[in-house]
Amino acid sequence: MVGRITPEFKAQLLDRTDIVEVVGLRVPLKKTGAEFAACCPFHNEKTPSFTVSPGKQFYHCFGCGAHGNAIDFLVEFDRLSFPEAVEELAQRAGMPLPEADGAPQGPDPKPLYELLARAAEHYQRALREHPEREAAVAYLKRRGLSGEVVTRYGLGLAPSGWGFLLEGLGKTAEQRERLLTTGLLSERDGRRYDRFRGRVMFPIRDRRGRVVGFGGRVLDDGEPKYLNSPETPVFVKGRELYGLYESQQALRRPPRLLLVEGYMDVIALAQFGIDYAVAALGTAATPEHIKRLLRGAPELVFCFDGDNAGRAAAWKALKTALPLATGQQPMRFLFLPEGEDPDTLVRKEGKDAFEARLAEAKLLSVFLFEHAAGRHSSATPEGRAGLTDEVQGLLGTMPAGSYREQLAAELARRTGRPAGPRRAAPRPRTPARAQPRTAAMTPLRRAIALLLDAPERAALVAEQPADWRELSRPGIRLLAEMVDIASAYPSITTAGLAERWRGTEDEHAVRKLSDAGLIALIPEDGRGAELIGIIGRLNQEVAAQRRAAEIERRWRARNADADDGGAAE
Ligand code: UTP
Ligand code: MN
Repeated sequence: MVGRITPEFKAQLLDRTDIVEVVGLRVPLKKTGAEFAACCPFHNEKTPSFTVSPGKQFYHCFGCGAHGNAIDFLVEFDRLSFPEAVEELAQRAGMPLPEADGAPQGPDPKPLYELLARAAEHYQRALREHPEREAAVAYLKRRGLSGEVVTRYGLGLAPSGWGFLLEGLGKTAEQRERLLTTGLLSERDGRRYDRFRGRVMFPIRDRRGRVVGFGGRVLDDGEPKYLNSPETPVFVKGRELYGLYESQQALRRPPRLLLVEGYMDVIALAQFGIDYAVAALGTAATPEHIKRLLRGAPELVFCFDGDNAGRAAAWKALKTALPLATGQQPMRFLFLPEGEDPDTLVRKEGKDAFEARLAEAKLLSVFLFEHAAGRHSSATPEGRAGLTDEVQGLLGTMPAGSYREQLAAELARRTGRPAGPRRAAPRPRTPARAQPRTAAMTPLRRAIALLLDAPERAALVAEQPADWRELSRPGIRLLAEMVDIASAYPSITTAGLAERWRGTEDEHAVRKLSDAGLIALIPEDGRGAELIGIIGRLNQEVAAQRRAAEIERRWRARNADADDGGAAE
C-alpha cells in the first residue's frame, strides 16, 4: 500500500524527474530551440504540434490541447492510474514512496515481482527444453496457436513433477517463503510442493508488464481445467485483466476493448489480429475492471455465451457497469452462437466476420430493455409497473445526466407513463466546442494563467500591495494560494505548481489555465507587466470598494445619530 502522496512529495518527485526523458522514452522527440517537438501521441497528425518544455516541465499540444506534467503524461500515455504513475516515476527517481500509515506495512513487493518473473522464465524455458516439452508443444499446435503468440504472451510449461520450481528457485528458506507467498508453492501437512504441475502456463501481467500471477491449463482433460494463482500481495483479481498489457503493447490506440472469458480466447483473438481482447481472471467483471477498460479505449464490448448462463452473466455485468455509464463511451454486449466461444468462432469465421459481430453487438440500452422487458409483460398494468420499478431501480444507480434521462424517457415510452418533469422539446446539447481562446478570459483568470506560465512571476505580485486579496470573487483565493506557494518555492516549475491542485475542486480550472495556448497572444516580454497591471487594477477595485464602504459607513452613522436623538426625546 502506498501512503498518502503529499503535495511536497509530488513537488519533489517532479523536481527529480525530467519530463523530456519520460516522454522521450515513448515518443521520438526533436529538439527545436529551447523545446522539443514531436507528432502528438494523443491525436493523429502529420506535422508536429506536440511540444515538451524542459524549462516548464510540461508537455503541450497545440493541435488537440493535451497538456500536463510527467505524471499526467504517464496517466494518459501508459494509461496508468495516478498512484501507479507516481510509483513509476518514484522508482525511476529512486525515491522511496511514502508508507501508508495505519495499515501494517506488507512485505516489500520487489522480491516477489522478481521471483514471479524468474518463474515465468523457468516455465518458458521448460517449454523449449524440458523432456516433457513435446506433449505441451503438440497440445499448443492442436489448439492452433502460432509460435508468435506463444512468445508474445510468454506461454510456458509447468512439468508434471512436484518440485520443478521448488528445486529450481527455492534455494534458500527465504526464497521458499516467497514462493509460498506468490502462490507458486502449496503447502500441506508441512510439506511444500509446486502448485502448478503438468500444465501450460499463462503468465498474468499487470499493466506495467510485471508478472503478478499465472493461469495454468491441463494438457489433457484433467480437473480442474484451469488453475489460477491465488490472490497475493501483488495479485488482486478484481483489478487485473489478462491480456491488457499485451494489448497495449500491440495497439497504442485500440478502437475498443473486448472483455472475454478465457485465456485461450484472448490469445486466439490476438493471433487473428484482434489485439484488443482481455479477460477477467475467473471472476465477474468488477467496477475497477470496467473503469480500467473505459480508460483504455473509447468503446467497451462485453462478450458472453448465447445460453442462459451467458445472459445471466451479462445482466450481472450490466448492473456493475451502470454506475459508470455516462453515455460518453458506448458499451455493448455480444452474445455468441450456442456452443461457441471467441476462440472457436474466430478460427471458424476469421477476423472480419468476428468484427462484424462486434459492430452489431447490442448497445447497453438495447440489452437493458430487452432483458427487463422479457421478464415483465407489457400487456398488463401489473407487468408495466414491474418493468417500471425494475428499470427505475437500475437507473437510480447511474450517474445523473442526459444518458440517464434518455433511458428514463425510453422507459416512459415503453410503459406509457409520463417521464417525470416534461420539457417542450429535448434541448439539443450544445457541443462542447473550444471557445475562442483568451476572449472569455477574465483578468483574474489571465493572472492565474500568467502565474502558471512562469511561477517566478509571483515575486512581481509580492512587490505590489496585497489589497486585492480582500476581494470576494471566485478565483481570488486560488490566485492568492498560488502566489503564496510560488513565493515559498522560488524554483517551483509550472508542473510542480499545477500539481498542488490535483484532487481538489480547483483541479480542473488549474489544468485549463495551465494551457500555454491561453496566453500565447501576449508577447513573452510583456507578460510580467500584464500581470502587474491586473494586480494594480484589482487593487484599485478594492480602493474603490473601500471608499464606497466608507461613504456608506458615514451615512449610516449620521442616520444612527438621528435615531438616537429621536429615541432620547
Ligand atoms: P472455459 O471452461 O469456458 O474454458 O473457461 P476455455 O477458456 O474455453 O478453455 P479451453 O478453450 O477449454 O482451453 C473459461 C475461463 O474460466 C476460467 C478460466 O479463466 C477460463 O479461461 N476457468 C475455467 C477457471 O478459472 N477454472 C476452471 O476450472 C475453468
Ligand atoms: Mn474454449
